[in-house]
Amino acid sequence: MREDIQDAVQRVDADRLWQRHMQMAEIGAIPGNGVNRAAFSAEDIRARRLLLSWAHARNFGVSIDDIGNMFVRRPGIEADAPPVMAGSHMDSQPRGGRFDGIYGVLAALEALEAIDEAGLKTRRPIELVAWSNEEGGRFAPCTMGSSVFSGARALSDFLDIKDNDGNVLGAALAETLAATPEVRRREFNTPATAYIEAHIEQGPLLELKSKTVGIVTGIQGLRWFNVEVFGESAHAGTTPLDARKDALRAALRIIRAIEALALDAGDAVRFTVGRMLVTPNSPNSVASHVLFSVDLRHPDAQTVDRLAAAVEPIARKEAGPCSATVTATLRDGPCAFDSSVADVVERAANDLGITNMRLASGASHDAMYMARLCPTGMIFVPCEKGVSHNEAENAKPEDLAAGARVLTAALLDFANR
Ligand code: GLV
Ligand code: MN
Ligand code: MN
Repeated sequence: MREDIQDAVQRVDADRLWQRHMQMAEIGAIPGNGVNRAAFSAEDIRARRLLLSWAHARNFGVSIDDIGNMFVRRPGIEADAPPVMAGSHMDSQPRGGRFDGIYGVLAALEALEAIDEAGLKTRRPIELVAWSNEEGGRFAPCTMGSSVFSGARALSDFLDIKDNDGNVLGAALAETLAATPEVRRREFNTPATAYIEAHIEQGPLLELKSKTVGIVTGIQGLRWFNVEVFGESAHAGTTPLDARKDALRAALRIIRAIEALALDAGDAVRFTVGRMLVTPNSPNSVASHVLFSVDLRHPDAQTVDRLAAAVEPIARKEAGPCSATVTATLRDGPCAFDSSVADVVERAANDLGITNMRLASGASHDAMYMARLCPTGMIFVPCEKGVSHNEAENAKPEDLAAGARVLTAALLDFANR
């Protein structure tokens, strides 16, 4: 490894990186060490302003696009060369942990600071990106910011989406954008040289195999649907079963039928119903309306396609006396990352003497959309027992720093090409 790159890598400060995680974890802190930092919320805005303050302290340039993706840039010698990008997201699940997403943003910031402290001049700019609404826990679907940036989806597809309290995304986004008025507005879909996302693994493999860094080969396919069941409200004490149009009972039949179809001997299919809204949501009224989510995943495209194609016919068949509609809200991958990025990351890890292995991602990430624009890869670091989307999510400061070191070296590799 070149001496100047080694110098930058050594300036990655494990303590600064950890302290920043802890500072971010105060924003939206919930009991049990968790974080609730929903996209386009007051907490999201506070996280954005904190990131902005760190960027300003280094005189890095900051810009934002119309869906609120925030970019922090360290210039290159060739000011207009497509930047090398790195980042992840700052929003969290409603009962999320302190590392999912924010690690990739803070690792990218740490890389920028280390490179800056080493006084390195890079040919290409290096740019951090904090993607908007990666989680989709408040406004579904997930990976919204990167899907719009990459041109895969239009911003207008999402503006009318409501959260569980009826708040409209367009209004929450407008408030979020208004909270950083000093930040320059920029375009979507600008060219990039490469994109590397650091993230906690959210699974147990690295810990089980005693490896510090995962080199991610790709992401499994993912489909989301909203299923709505329309019935009729009626008195729970008086209405005979055959006179009911019970939307909740119908929803349960639909869910059981999808579950039966999704069962596979190898336990590779992932099927989740994680969100359900019931109207009128009263113990003694038959439900008149149910909306529930379907999340279906598998590494193989044909399997995801087959399962996804079955959702609507199942919903119609099992609705019984009710009616059902199915709306697809997300159709992703599977995606295989560019091997050139994996090779650079692997070489960096090996040169730094950091144990590593290749693995696929079960979770979805913004990198899936960046892979449409430029060579893309991901760096995983272990998280305790693989626990994620849970307040107890945990990671070790030294592992976070090791991932940031690999990221720094890999970014410099691409930035000097
Ligand atoms: C992202 O959090 C996902 O749902 O995989
Ligand atoms: Mn994440
Ligand atoms: Mn997540």
